[in-house]
Amino acid sequence: LQNGLARTPPMGWNSWNFFACNINETVIKETADALISTGLANLGYTYVNIDDCWSKVTRDAKGQMVPDPKTFKSGIKALADYVHSKGLKLGIYSDAGKFTCQVRPGSIFHEKEDAMSFASWDVDYLKYDNCFNLGIEPKKRYPPMRDALNATGRSIFYSICEWGVDDPALWAGKVGNSWRTTEDINDTWVSMTNIADLNDKWAAYAGPGGWNDPDMLEVGNGGMTYKEYRSHFSIWALIKAPLLIGCDIRNMTAETKEILSNQEVIAVNQDPLGVQGRKVHSNGTDGCQQVWAGPLSGNSLSVVLWNRCMQAATITAEWNVIGLEAGTSVSVRDLWQHEVVLNNAVASFSAQLDAHDCRMYVFTPQAALMGNVM
Ligand code: GLA
Repeated sequence: LQNGLARTPPMGWNSWNFFACNINETVIKETADALISTGLANLGYTYVNIDDCWSKVTRDAKGQMVPDPKTFKSGIKALADYVHSKGLKLGIYSDAGKFTCQVRPGSIFHEKEDAMSFASWDVDYLKYDNCFNLGIEPKKRYPPMRDALNATGRSIFYSICEWGVDDPALWAGKVGNSWRTTEDINDTWVSMTNIADLNDKWAAYAGPGGWNDPDMLEVGNGGMTYKEYRSHFSIWALIKAPLLIGCDIRNMTAETKEILSNQEVIAVNQDPLGVQGRKVHSNGTDGCQQVWAGPLSGNSLSVVLWNRCMQAATITAEWNVIGLEAGTSVSVRDLWQHEVVLNNAVASFSAQLDAHDCRMYVFTPQAALMGNVM
């Protein structure tokens, strides 16, 4: 959606993957504080997004949505003020149906008044879910909220969460700033790898203003190993996914923080060219030895070697497969080791990887390095 937002994929935090319905204004404020104190905000994680369960079960006498008086008693406007005072942005959640997935009021047929409420609370982001949708197709249910948000005059990121129903990449580019391409992620290797594969075929439809959304990060929630989480984060960065942290950042381990704070990996995600990287090669059992790659601004490439096999493997990126001309000499920077590991790779580059591990690189052709001296 060309509304001036989402020139690069959104970055921030969302309450759902870790807290589910156990949220309240204290958790949200403490998370905003933690984004600042951990340095994550400085790295670009600026959206603080409240998911389902913030609202009271019924609308008020005037038909307005109201925050749950037990858990958000100061109201959303006060929370937005708090979050804004830290230089961050606040996100909220509703549903393009009768109810949200946790059976709070949905916004279908109330788009105008709800958009007005969100804008009057100074909300910056809306995630708009797909439960209790009355069997009406997403293509019809999502545009009215786009128009209602637009009519408020406030700049509000519009995140369409229709779980990949009706191939949103084909129509959502004019409707939202991101669209879910799959069902919900869960905190397992199987879920994460499946979603990466399902999301891949929509790559051509992503770009500045509108991104494929393979769902939020599970890094730090405990269901995967360090190597698996590093793979999850590397691939989400390369495929220009929203980087929405889904763990409790008030209590994260040093390893979790190291993964989420990798500035070089974040820079790939936030590269201004905005082209989604793709799976360009796979071999081995069930194609478990994989190469993912995509172009970056300034003629560089980002490349991930990903070992999804159950045992160690050597994986090779061949120049023709990643889109480099034969004979090009390339400098290879490893984004997890934070150093150039080879100055003049020619024709291919290989690495030996443990099971479920990945390596992430920026490949810079020497001509580009020298600024095309001719
Ligand atoms: C759906 C969405 C999730 C989350 C829950 C909340 O399942 O896809 O991301 O928002 O609803 O109930």
